[in-house]
Amino acid sequence: MPSSNKANHVMTKLIDETGSGPIIDLGSGWGNFAIFIAKKNLQRQVIGYELSLFPWLISLLFKKILRLNNLTLYRQNFYNINLPVASVIVCYLYPEAMLKIKKKLLLEQPNIDFLISNNFALPAWKSYKKIQLNDFYKSPIYLYKITDLK
Ligand SMILES: C[S@@+](CC[C@H](N)C(=O)[O-])C[C@H]1O[C@@H](n2cnc3c(N)ncnc32)[C@H](O)[C@@H]1O
Repeated sequence: MPSSNKANHVMTKLIDETGSGPIIDLGSGWGNFAIFIAKKNLQRQVIGYELSLFPWLISLLFKKILRLNNLTLYRQNFYNINLPVASVIVCYLYPEAMLKIKKKLLLEQPNIDFLISNNFALPAWKSYKKIQLNDFYKSPIYLYKITDLK
């Protein structure tokens, strides 16, 4: 399920607080958010990782049509890669994935400053900011400062 428009706008505002380095979308799906953020930040690199073939192909097609040279979309399981240097990770996953990502961050200590999660918190880690969307579920968006957590 792609991020909603409301979530995209709130995550974009939070991303503006993360400097000018690369943005990683863990599980980029059909590319909704990765393309949205790449268009808004042409000066920043955006890197997406997606496992499912069909959504990844569609996202690649839109990247080409829109000539987004700042967007790189890999068809890869993000648990199996060493995360590159980046300012911020963005994700919209599920609770077990957040636990695995937390373990990955602690184990690998990648050079990444922030994590923004749509809907799901990093277990037992205090967020730096939490914004509730003005939607039916009052869905939360979390911003973590990874440097505070180590
Ligand atoms: C809820 S969708 C979010 C899509 C996009 N980030 C957005 O906000 O519109 C989550 C995506 O993560 C992908 N995904 C889940 N686990 C993954 C993994 N280990 N490696 C790569 N992609 C994964 C799923 O295939 C799915 O497309």
